[in-house]
Amino acid sequence: MKDPVIISVGGGKGGVGKSTVTANVGATLSKKGFSVGFIDADLGGANLHICVGVKRPAVGLQDYISGRCKRINEIAIPTIVPNSWLISGASDILELANPNYAQKQKIINNLKTMSADYILVDLGAGSDYHVTDFYSAFPNGIIVTDGLPTSIENAYSYLKNGTIRGLARLFSGNQEIQKTIKCFIDPDTRKAFATIGELYDYMVRKFPEDASVMKEWLYNRRTFLILNMVKSGDDVKVGTRFAELVKKYLSITLHYIGYIIYSPEIRATIKQMHPIVLDQEPSKVIECFDAVTDNLLAITRGRS
Ligand SMILES: Nc1ncnc2c1ncn2[C@@H]1O[C@H](COP(=O)(O)OP(=O)(O)O)[C@@H](O)[C@H]1O
Ligand SMILES: [Mg+2]
Repeated sequence: MKDPVIISVGGGKGGVGKSTVTANVGATLSKKGFSVGFIDADLGGANLHICVGVKRPAVGLQDYISGRCKRINEIAIPTIVPNSWLISGASDILELANPNYAQKQKIINNLKTMSADYILVDLGAGSDYHVTDFYSAFPNGIIVTDGLPTSIENAYSYLKNGTIRGLARLFSGNQEIQKTIKCFIDPDTRKAFATIGELYDYMVRKFPEDASVMKEWLYNRRTFLILNMVKSGDDVKVGTRFAELVKKYLSITLHYIGYIIYSPEIRATIKQMHPIVLDQEPSKVIECFDAVTDNLLAITRGRS
């Protein structure tokens, strides 16, 4: 059996449509014949279950973290999306909103033992390490944003912090490199680097072997951009400009895999608790999800 392709879905800002996109991209993958796993890692505000038609999840991540369920596949439950399962993050237990690193690692390490062609990990808002640990743990990540400058700024911070967090973990045993990476976060330091490219050039001079490890880590990552709630052609262009910015400052190739139009029907389907792409009636928004998913498949098929 092939390892699942695990993809985080984040973006920094709340309300930009991360969970909606997770549910609908997942349902589109299912329509195209792939099996899908949904993970709700928005532990403070879990609601992905509603987007995939599950009213009250009987089990979830809390049962696994607490050890009540020993194996991760015991907490996967069926959804209304054919050929899919969900691991819910819904919980009344407050401390689970911010799991520690070991708890996150337990989830991250064991996800690949789950059976699915694709696993989509829906993240919460923000770009602190509770969220970016999930971004940096998986080589594939979807960024969802709308075209507003505030959302774009949050998406940028999310990517920046996620990259730094990933690099810091990669070199967790090396104090010198940790200090170097810190210079990128803190622009007041004398040795500040303006871009990940500058940080890399410095690493090549000071720690050449580690620089190749850094290069390989960056190279193996696939980051996808979906612009949501698009109302005009100008909105679409925001995605192209954002991808250029991210390339310049963060050395990340952001694959702009498409946009989803603003659709009042999406709000209605949330109330009916099902992904809009499962509707029989053809519509423009379903076409958008179809195009985005085809682009995602073109880049990820054959990779794990
Ligand atoms: N393309 C869209 N058009 C219209 N409304 C949308 C669209 N995408 C998401 N929404 C609505 O926006 C709200 C927030 O979406 P949600 O997926 O919960 O965001 P997030 O997970 O990023 O917090 C929901 O009410 C959802 O129905
Ligand atoms: Mg959400």
